[in-house]
Amino acid sequence: MKMEPINLYDFETIMRVKLPKMAYDYYASGAHDEITLRENHAAFDRIRLRYRVLRDVSQRDLSTTVMKEPISMPVVIAPTAFHRMAHPDGEIATTKAASKAGTIMILSTLATSSIEEVMEVATGPVWFQLYVYKDRGTTAGLVERAESAGCSALVLTVDAQIWGQRERDVRNCFRLPEGLSLKNLMPVGKEQLPRDVAGSGLAAYVTSLFDPALSWKDLDWLCSITKVPVLIKGVVHPDDARHAVDYGIAGVIVSNHGGRQLDTAPASIEALSGIVEAVEDGLEVLIDGGIRRGTDVVKALALGARAVGVGRPIIWGLAHDGENGVLRVLEILRSEIDSAMGLCGCASVEEISRDLIG
Ligand code: FNR
Ligand code: LAC
Repeated sequence: MKMEPINLYDFETIMRVKLPKMAYDYYASGAHDEITLRENHAAFDRIRLRYRVLRDVSQRDLSTTVMKEPISMPVVIAPTAFHRMAHPDGEIATTKAASKAGTIMILSTLATSSIEEVMEVATGPVWFQLYVYKDRGTTAGLVERAESAGCSALVLTVDAQIWGQRERDVRNCFRLPEGLSLKNLMPVGKEQLPRDVAGSGLAAYVTSLFDPALSWKDLDWLCSITKVPVLIKGVVHPDDARHAVDYGIAGVIVSNHGGRQLDTAPASIEALSGIVEAVEDGLEVLIDGGIRRGTDVVKALALGARAVGVGRPIIWGLAHDGENGVLRVLEILRSEIDSAMGLCGCASVEEISRDLIG
């Protein structure tokens, strides 16, 4: 009898056999020796939860808000590229699942579905993750389309001006499968990864088109061309978080890009408390990287995160069974958060506090 997945790791096992090697390796890989990739979750395992007892946890409420958006649990979908490489319904399926689960979908610039297609099916909040192209017209066009389609926040990724060396992609000569394209870049003719290059086609695309000169002064420009709140994603240094407050940024996502950029960057959970302390409630702090268990979510909130982002497990669920697979991943995580909160003596996310950390 086929065993249904019972935890997030089970979905990866399924994906490993289901997807072609090039696709599996792209989703799985980290930069260079994948030390940060491994540490992102290992660091959670090193944290102990000093649970409390004799507290009424018969009713538990997982709901919270991020950027004033109500969500059913402190989990959002981190932006990841090329969903149609995992399942034919791609980002449409992921977005439907996010809406059904009562949480936020963060849509990647490098999606294989367009902003407009996604917003047609979304019944919950969608944020747009932005990569800044050297051509500011391309970038402004993305911002304008995201905003007019109804995306309620922009997430500027700031840890990828230079591309992390994912050696599996180099060895595989990574290419997008035939028939897939970067739908949001079609209007400007930048929808295809180059095929006549050595190594990773994605690395060649990013190196030729993304802007390595991106700097703080560009935030003034970006904030001047949008009315929605701007968050920055990919921060691990407290001084950068402090800078973000000075620039009126609405939120920071503590992240090392899932270990895919600078190898030996700190695990996200190791960087979190320094950043929470530095911003002094001046903006909302989210975190992503290595979240695989409900206890990881409780630890992140105890260390000051408002919510967590989940990347790879969403792709695993998508590969397994499209919208239903993503929904299953989110529901398993929800039930694990629920039991972790109960076992910690917390009846609401507000009760998850720093003193739980051993
Ligand atoms: C990513 N990530 C990412 N980040 C971003 O800002 N824009 C993007 O398009 C992508 N694409 C992407 C693809 C894949 C396959 C992965 C694994 C990651 C990074 C992502 O948003 C997030 O930071 C990490 O995935 C979080 O770590 P976990 O949950 O994958 O361990
Ligand atoms: C990656 C990009 C798309 O990490 O952010 O693959």
